[in-house]
Amino acid sequence: MNLIILIGAPGSGKGTQSQLMSNSLDYPVICIGDIVRQEMNSKTELGKEMIRYIETGDLVPSDLINKIFLNKFNSLRSSKGLILDGFPRTVDQAVFLNEVINGLNIRLNIFFIDVPDEVLIKRLTYRSRADDKEEIIINRLNTYNLETKPLLTFYKHLLNTVNGNDTEKNVQSKLIACIN
Ligand code: AP5
Ligand code: MG
Repeated sequence: MNLIILIGAPGSGKGTQSQLMSNSLDYPVICIGDIVRQEMNSKTELGKEMIRYIETGDLVPSDLINKIFLNKFNSLRSSKGLILDGFPRTVDQAVFLNEVINGLNIRLNIFFIDVPDEVLIKRLTYRSRADDKEEIIINRLNTYNLETKPLLTFYKHLLNTVNGNDTEKNVQSKLIACIN
């Protein structure tokens, strides 16, 4: 399996780029944020447990997220490729992912979509999703800096950094060109 991981700050274009990539490569996407929002909207027990994290912009605890990921991953195991949007988002999630894929025939493509803070803030303010309110955006960015950025060091030997401050189309072309 070709496993493509997109790492980036809130608003960096993970969702946009994974959708474009999914359309052209015909790989499914696992977007943890979308799954979390679906659970919340359907008011499932899991959704009720996660709502307070989303509403503040904190990360949902990894034990919950890892379970969600594993379920989805297992259901897509036979796919020739898979795109991960928003997972892993912490070093402990990355360690978990390594355990999950250990021994499987997996080609890893790990991307960091790099976008300056002021551009991120502009994009998110303009979009206005439920968690796109100013104080939540600030916390999401702080949380990203504290908890997700260490992944860039964790994956430093595998990481492809792509400048995400460009048109959607150009970013996509750069990502596709790096996939092996
Ligand atoms: P998640 O849904 O993943 O949100 P996020 O990381 O904050 O990122 P966004 O979805 O806001 O941005 P994006 O990078 O996908 O960019 P997009 O393409 O949308 O997570 C939400 C929450 O779920 C988290 O806060 C956390 O609580 C929880 N969660 C999720 N995963 C978790 C995990 N692993 N562990 C624990 N908790 C987890 O683009 C943004 C905007 O910019 C759009 O309007 C788009 O149209 C625009 N845009 C995109 N690209 C461009 C471009 N090139 N030029 C101009 N505009 C652009
Ligand atoms: Mg997204």
